[in-house]
Amino acid sequence: MLFLSTLAALAAAAAAYQTCVVPHGGAGIDDTIALNQTIANCSSDSQILFQEGTTYNIGSPVTFRNLTNIEIAIRGNLALPTSIPYVQAFVNASAGQRLDWFTISGHNVTLTGNQNNPDGGYIDPFGEPWWIASQLTEPGGLALRPHFMGFSANNSEVAYLKIRKPIGWVFSMSGSNLHIHDVDIDASYDLNNPSLFPFNTDGYDVSGVNILMENNHIFNGDDCVAVNNGAHNVTIRNMICEGGHGASLSGTDNIANIHFDNITSRNSLYATRFKSSLNSTGNVYNVTWSNIYVLNATFPIFATSAYFDQNTNRGLTPGNFGAGTKATNITNFSWINVTGTINDMYPGDGSCITVPCWYSIPGITNTPGIPFQMLPGSAQGIQVKNVNLLPIDGKGAPNTFCNSTYFSDGTANLVFECTNGPYVATSS
Ligand SMILES: *[C@@H]1O[C@H](CO)[C@@H](O)[C@H](O)[C@H]1NC(C)=O
Ligand SMILES: *[C@@H]1O[C@H](CO)[C@@H](O)[C@H](O)[C@H]1NC(C)=O
Ligand SMILES: *[C@@H]1O[C@H](CO)[C@@H](O)[C@H](O)[C@H]1NC(C)=O
Ligand SMILES: *[C@@H]1O[C@H](CO)[C@@H](O)[C@H](O)[C@H]1NC(C)=O
Ligand SMILES: *[C@@H]1O[C@H](CO)[C@@H](O)[C@H](O)[C@H]1NC(C)=O
Ligand SMILES: *[C@@H]1O[C@H](CO)[C@@H](O)[C@H](O)[C@H]1NC(C)=O
Ligand SMILES: *[C@@H]1O[C@H](CO)[C@@H](O)[C@H](O)[C@H]1NC(C)=O
Ligand SMILES: *[C@@H]1O[C@H](CO)[C@@H](O)[C@H](O)[C@H]1NC(C)=O
Ligand SMILES: *[C@@H]1O[C@H](CO)[C@@H](O)[C@H](O)[C@H]1NC(C)=O
Ligand SMILES: *[C@@H]1O[C@H](CO)[C@@H](O)[C@H](O)[C@H]1NC(C)=O
Ligand SMILES: *[C@@H]1O[C@H](CO)[C@@H](O)[C@H](O)[C@H]1NC(C)=O
Ligand SMILES: *[C@@H]1O[C@H](CO)[C@@H](O)[C@H](O)[C@H]1NC(C)=O
Repeated sequence: MLFLSTLAALAAAAAAYQTCVVPHGGAGIDDTIALNQTIANCSSDSQILFQEGTTYNIGSPVTFRNLTNIEIAIRGNLALPTSIPYVQAFVNASAGQRLDWFTISGHNVTLTGNQNNPDGGYIDPFGEPWWIASQLTEPGGLALRPHFMGFSANNSEVAYLKIRKPIGWVFSMSGSNLHIHDVDIDASYDLNNPSLFPFNTDGYDVSGVNILMENNHIFNGDDCVAVNNGAHNVTIRNMICEGGHGASLSGTDNIANIHFDNITSRNSLYATRFKSSLNSTGNVYNVTWSNIYVLNATFPIFATSAYFDQNTNRGLTPGNFGAGTKATNITNFSWINVTGTINDMYPGDGSCITVPCWYSIPGITNTPGIPFQMLPGSAQGIQVKNVNLLPIDGKGAPNTFCNSTYFSDGTANLVFECTNGPYVATSS
């Protein structure tokens, strides 16, 4: 009897797993209306299937909340609305005018594209017209831009998606035990005509615990990956970051044990960076960037605790801000094996729309290279080891911008003399 009831239970459990095919209404039909019905019946133990060979119209924001044991399988493609005012109206109507076009949360959620078909698994937000419109009317990015996706889940996976021309910020990732791999984000732009620039197209903003990101490719105009407050035990490896603002630690507090490893950085403003804003009073511990292959970065290694937005506080630097100004303390940061070329020929990128530029560093003698910009005593355990960086034109030396007062425990673990000027290797 026990045997039979166990079999019955197993059969019931097996039967409970279902595939829910998302219906497609045809040209001009907003498929999210039918999708809503599908979600209502398929929020646990289901595969939600966007069929191969179909392009769905995701004409309204989509919310998948509290999913359990779900695979969202995007075997076909998803197209967002092409009308800018139509999308802006949704953002305008949202609380605080902050809207993720896709919101996904739950436990054991697998979000996949199409691993086997190169024509499937695309999501098209049609961002390029937004970039063009901003260039003409609102430099720095149009108002009322949606974020692409907020993904907050435990024991979950995101893989094989291809995001083509996002409007702005792509993924906000949080939760625990996440594996994000083989995702392509293409906000590519013409490096030689950066007046058309994809502002704020951050690839990933990450704030969760036990996260592994690997084999992802990002070509964009802002952080490739930005690790934010609340992130613990995050590994980001085997990635290619092009054209943007690098493998970034961007936060003020409650961040520890972050490892960026084997990152290829191509034509980026920063290859690696730490950025924090003044008067923040927190701590960031244990951050390593290792095996960084730098191809043509303006700033291969960069750390600032005095970041400011280019439209506010411009020109504030360590040295001219008010007495009593505080900064995030950073402890045990390492850069190990950083090799490649510095962009000294055409430094900077199209994100510079003010004078002075947001990334200019007052007081620096020569722009490209390795700048550190911190408050006295705010850094300890900082190590820079095995660095081999040369200007891309083969002329001169890299430049450093550094002041020994930053480091409460001295500069013995830097491989260069901590000065404002040409890079001079130290013997250690
Ligand atoms: C889908 O359902 C959500 C509520 O869960 C609602 O806010 C939204 O307007 C619906 N979308 C469509 C297109 O019906
Ligand atoms: C959802 O489930 C309810 C109750 O089982 C059923 O009546 C309805 O037809 C289902 N809707 C869809 C779209 O499957
Ligand atoms: C979330 O989903 C689980 C499992 O499907 C269910 O038991 C729970 O009631 C749901 N919670 C909410 C807030 O909807
Ligand atoms: C996670 O969900 C998948 C279905 O997407 C299911 O096959 C698997 O058993 C679930 N894992 C756990 C630990 O429940
Ligand atoms: C750190 O995260 C990884 C997943 O990326 C996990 O395998 C590992 O167990 C975590 N380590 C700790 C100490 O939690
Ligand atoms: C480094 O990452 C690249 C992908 O960018 C990958 O092809 C290569 O195998 C990785 N190297 C190691 C040692 O894992
Ligand atoms: C280096 O990057 C700059 C800025 O993105 C670009 O204009 C230039 O063409 C690149 N140089 C090479 C050699 O790729
Ligand atoms: C930062 O470090 C300074 C100097 O060691 C210390 O006085 C201050 O309390 C620290 N701030 C925080 C938020 O821990
Ligand atoms: C930083 O790393 C050290 C050495 O691995 C470890 O003992 C310490 O707990 C870590 N700090 C935090 C805040 O996790
Ligand atoms: C930081 O706060 C202190 C004390 O309130 C103030 O004097 C200082 O001007 C502030 N600095 C900045 C850069 O805002
Ligand atoms: C740095 O590179 C050396 C030589 O390639 C290698 O042996 C070492 O493991 C690397 N260090 C790290 C932290 O990856
Ligand atoms: C280094 O920083 C200290 C404290 O802010 C400042 O007094 C000094 O002038 C700086 N040195 C250089 C060379 O800029």
